[in-house]
Amino acid sequence: MIDDLDPSSPIGVFDSGVGGLTVVRALMERLPFEHIHYFGDTARVPYGIKSVETISHYTTQIAEFLLEKRVKLLIIACNTMAAVAAGVVRDLSPAPVLDVIEAGATSALAATRSKRIGVIGTPTTINSNAYALAIHRHDPEVRLHSQACALFVPLVEEGWLDHPVTRLTAQDYLRPVLAERVDTLVLGCTHYPLLKPLLQEVAGPEVTLVDSAEAMAEQAAALLAERQLHNPARGRPDYHFWVTDVPLRFQTIGERFLGRTLNNVHVVKW
Ligand code: DGL
Repeated sequence: MIDDLDPSSPIGVFDSGVGGLTVVRALMERLPFEHIHYFGDTARVPYGIKSVETISHYTTQIAEFLLEKRVKLLIIACNTMAAVAAGVVRDLSPAPVLDVIEAGATSALAATRSKRIGVIGTPTTINSNAYALAIHRHDPEVRLHSQACALFVPLVEEGWLDHPVTRLTAQDYLRPVLAERVDTLVLGCTHYPLLKPLLQEVAGPEVTLVDSAEAMAEQAAALLAERQLHNPARGRPDYHFWVTDVPLRFQTIGERFLGRTLNNVHVVKW
């Protein structure tokens, strides 16, 4: 890690596709003066069902691309990448690295009273056991109940945020986790914050949902404060969105995740 990072440099955020825009949205709200470069690997998404080797290789390529933009902080917005390749990024990055799993785990520990936590994510994230490792590193007494929810990503991208099919799917996925009487549920995937109202209804009011995008924005703000890396300028920040493909309905889906107009989109040809 280097100490001569420039506070006026951008923050680099990356994800397998458009989902990480939920993290960018939370960052824009929490840190409104920070420049952001986002990278979404839209040509190769989804990562959530790919092997660890493939994900590590893609992740390295993306991290190196953003480091060339001289980012002062790298944020792994994708839970799947964070689950299997966070170590690879930390090894190669001279800038500090934050990842959504560490952020989500910390928030879940702060939220739980009963020490019974549920985690939902893509099959690769859940199979990696990364949330359990991150949570047990802080508190080995926590009982963790995980569930892979492979259908949520396509349902969210279809815009079925409050659709009977999504509700039935959620009821089915959450049943075994809720049966364990968890009091906290980590939304361990970039796409799940968009399902928050529906998931809260299915889980019931007594379960606290941990939005890893919001948790990430809090951690980023804390790190910038601690390292005195806040952008001193108070003007309108620059946002750049780098993608490897512009698939069908990219603009609509991207804006749904970002919650605002998506400008400055650049296509990277690899
Ligand atoms: N970004 C991924 C995650 O947070 C979901 C999409 C994918 O499978 O690539 O796990």
